[in-house]
Amino acid sequence: MRVMITAGPTREYLDDVRYLSNASSGRMGYALAEAVLSAGHEVVLITGPVMISPPAGCTVIAVETTDDLLRACRAEWEACDGVIATAAVCDYRPRARFPGKLAKTGVSLELELVETADVLAELGQHKGNRWIVGFALESEEFAHVNALRKLKEKNCDAIVLNGPTAIGAESNTVEVIKDDGTTVARFTGSKRVVAGELWKWVDATLV
Ligand code: CTP
Repeated sequence: MRVMITAGPTREYLDDVRYLSNASSGRMGYALAEAVLSAGHEVVLITGPVMISPPAGCTVIAVETTDDLLRACRAEWEACDGVIATAAVCDYRPRARFPGKLAKTGVSLELELVETADVLAELGQHKGNRWIVGFALESEEFAHVNALRKLKEKNCDAIVLNGPTAIGAESNTVEVIKDDGTTVARFTGSKRVVAGELWKWVDATLV
């Protein structure tokens, strides 16, 4: 089996030296890549800029912006059997990218942001007989409802709900929600342990 994993943050540039991004470490996605490889499968790891090294043996495609991520995912999707989307995608980009470095002018600067593409939703639109596992990062009260909405919008088979403390952390607590809205598993521990458990669940249930 050939499994696509998206990981890490994306960056959206305001000028040639400044960008919007987030504190994603890539750990969850890289740990999943390791778990899937250990189970004897192929992994295409499509990753934003992170400080950790990918596990040996996977095909690594390095991306920076959400558009880069979209292009790489589009190109690889056909040849994959499924995707686990852990990437912390930057949902907005500055409307314009200024060439060079914006200099100070002494007055405030207004930044207009426009939405970037929803990469997972696009994969979901061309799903065929592939399986899709999304992640949902929810900080609010209606976390479960929001996660289920994302599952439907992105045509996922399951979505992994976690909270903002997951970003950049060594460990994680997740809840796996299936497309009928039921919570089917909860895992907690180091991202390596959670990845191992999550892959076992995906392999037993969706593959
Ligand atoms: N995702 C994606 N492309 C985006 C945004 C998100 O592929 N532009 C993927 C993420 O990798 C994750 C899932 O969609 O698997 C949900 O991401 P999340 O950030 O929780 O939700 P958003 O769709 O960005 O919605 P919101 O920001 O409104 O919570």
